[in-house]
Amino acid sequence: MSGKLWGGRFQNSAEQWVDEFGASIGFDQQLVTEDLEGSIAHVTMLGACGILSQDEVNTIKDGLHQLQQKATEGSLEFSIANEDIHLNLEKMLIDLVGPVGGKLHTGRSRNDQVATDMHLFLKKRVHEVVSLIEAFQKAIMTQAEENIDTLAPGYTHLQRAQPISFAHHLMTYFWMLERDKQRFVESLKRIDISPLGAGALAGTTFPIDREMSAELLGFSAVYQNSMDAVSDRDFIVEFLSNGSLLMAHLSRFAEEIILWSSEEFKFIELDDAFSTGSSIMPQKKNPDMAELIRGKAGRVYGNLMGLLTVLKGIPLAYNKDMQEDKEGMFDTLHTIVGSLKIFEGMVRTMTVAKETLHKAVHQDFSNATELADYLATKGMPFREAHAVTGKLVFLCIQRGIYLLDLPIEDLQEASSLIESDVFDVLAPEAAVKRRHSLGGTGFDQVKIQIAKAKECL
Ligand code: ARG
Repeated sequence: MSGKLWGGRFQNSAEQWVDEFGASIGFDQQLVTEDLEGSIAHVTMLGACGILSQDEVNTIKDGLHQLQQKATEGSLEFSIANEDIHLNLEKMLIDLVGPVGGKLHTGRSRNDQVATDMHLFLKKRVHEVVSLIEAFQKAIMTQAEENIDTLAPGYTHLQRAQPISFAHHLMTYFWMLERDKQRFVESLKRIDISPLGAGALAGTTFPIDREMSAELLGFSAVYQNSMDAVSDRDFIVEFLSNGSLLMAHLSRFAEEIILWSSEEFKFIELDDAFSTGSSIMPQKKNPDMAELIRGKAGRVYGNLMGLLTVLKGIPLAYNKDMQEDKEGMFDTLHTIVGSLKIFEGMVRTMTVAKETLHKAVHQDFSNATELADYLATKGMPFREAHAVTGKLVFLCIQRGIYLLDLPIEDLQEASSLIESDVFDVLAPEAAVKRRHSLGGTGFDQVKIQIAKAKECL
């Protein structure tokens, strides 16, 4: 007989390297708190349903509490020979309280146990992610509030397009994060379901009360099909998917932070605390943290693809393939938590180079649309106004000047509709101010937007 808790029908033991390949204790020990919580609820329910005597329940619970204490102290010693967190803890319980500890697993399987642990774990962590997103949103909003009047070039194709309020640009990320946050919150509905009591796959012959154990664990619902309860991991896929979208947003913002802090842009300066130097070039101040966040998006996408692929071909119900759901989830959690904390600090402490931004917007053609709109307002068909303005831009490029530098004579030669009020229209401040449309970059609209955003926090 092998020395395993499940070893009854085995004649020989596996060699250690085989055990090592199959073991998950190296990573699923992160579920220790949830596994013990799940066991306490399960045994409480077994007692309440008369499946175990109150004495037995008390002894087992006492043992589980001792294990909880040891887990807090960090003094539990896990072993690969006991494969995973569930068997490790069960073995420790039996060592602590004697053979009665073996009654804990009545009416339960590791299959519903591990699914329960994962639901409990994610439920807590999603709340944590949501508050970190919110903290980051606050940092963005604070910078935005200080930069409502800061003019900045707005881009399309990374070419100067139209002047904007820098706050408007920053707030774009606020709203992306708001949707990320909502996605995580909405996913809780599907995480907050108890698989406990589904057994290995078919339910159990013991008169258990699944609703009771679910309630003890704070779940709002129970899975209605025992096979579904133990064989899907869609709630983890959803977490990885939400994490992937979040990382896509963080990565785009990171890319802009990197561009903006370059010599070419110089729109912001990162605090020293979030920058690094070069081992050879003394002048360097590198935006390493932003680059890392951009890079880490890749591993989160990889984790999502990994789990989707694991799930796609496995027959019902539980298969050991499903043990592969864990590392990607832990890694994703670790990555998004770290990225959100770093990004919050980076944005909160960065300095916005208002002067540089102001200058930039006065040294480009991002007011060209204003001129075309001006002519259109005076009755010229927009397509024609576009062509007239384009010719004037070309004239400026030839002379090495900008539209605001053109003498009125040149403008009037291009179109007799142009009068001296054109210079007011061409000012970048005016271009921003006049964009009153809902959600536009007009200063008053940006203020309204920020007020709306505050309601989300
Ligand atoms: N370590 C396993 C996992 O993570 C626990 C469930 C094992 N169940 C089984 N029947 N082998 O999936």
